Amino acid sequence: MASATDKRTGEIDFLRHFARPLPLAVITELLGLPEEDREKFARWASSFTSIEGTFGLLKILPGVRKLTGYLKERFEICRQHPEPDMISALVAAEQEGERLSEDELLATVFLLLIAGHETTVHLLSLGLLTLLQHPEQKTALMADWSKSRPAVDEILRQATPIQMTKPRYVARDIEICGHPFFRGDVIVPLLAAANSDPKAFSEPEEFRIDRDSRKHVAFGSGPHVCLGLKLARVEAEIAFEQLLTTYPNLELAIPEKHLQWYERPGARAMKEMPIRLNQVAHPLIKEQVHVA
Ligand code: HEM
Repeated sequence: MASATDKRTGEIDFLRHFARPLPLAVITELLGLPEEDREKFARWASSFTSIEGTFGLLKILPGVRKLTGYLKERFEICRQHPEPDMISALVAAEQEGERLSEDELLATVFLLLIAGHETTVHLLSLGLLTLLQHPEQKTALMADWSKSRPAVDEILRQATPIQMTKPRYVARDIEICGHPFFRGDVIVPLLAAANSDPKAFSEPEEFRIDRDSRKHVAFGSGPHVCLGLKLARVEAEIAFEQLLTTYPNLELAIPEKHLQWYERPGARAMKEMPIRLNQVAHPLIKEQVHVA
């Protein structure tokens, strides 16, 4: 899209104007980070998503350094003036004696900020895309919002925004489903493949909001299952209901085949998602859009 918002047609980039600001607002609010700093996080965090190619990791280093410096300053502020928020609680745990070192504190807040934001951005955009691709399922959902929970689970199953887990290391020789694994082997479970397993989900390629998708593994599983799964689900349920109730006729503003995707393993993420609201804008959208 040429401009952030097109005032004639009511076009916006859904990522920039909704899918990114909403989870960012939620996680920064929970952590206790000031509203005026959200734009900065959005910039740093989106640079982390754009890791592509051999030198991708090098490109994110300046953002990591800036975020680290920023968080250390916030910890100091919270040490001096604690507030009822997560960073102050974590800082207190650090001060209460060796429960959390400064490095652990930094790693924890960094993880919550990035994991609690970037993932949900892509759940919202992939979820909207999936609903637009299946108008009859979208209509069924809009006719009965009590179906939000199963619909979001089915979106998570089909879209699987985080496609694989971090690497796992085999602790002892073991055989799984006839395949031998040896101590020290590295395994990267593909969550997207498990979510398309016909033994677990009949006709897995079909998107059906009334199927029971609860056993999907879009949030991982076992001891490292996603810490924020309940928050992410609730955010998505509220977001889709508010969005589609306010803009029932919204649609993609470009042919689907022109959508651009990041080419990197591990996450399904669009670079932009131009949509047409087909309605005068509303405070849900971050920047007012006036349709002529
Ligand atoms: C759609 C949204 C989300 C998806 C798809 C998602 C996905 C995942 C997955 C697949 C894992 C497991 C990774 C592994 O096993 O290697 C994970 C872990 C984690 N997630 Fe999420 N996540 C989402 C939202 C969130 C939110 C909102 C938060 C925090 C507020 C969060 C915090 C975490 C943390 C802290 C871990 C690490 C848990 C551990 O290693 O013990 N996630 N997430």
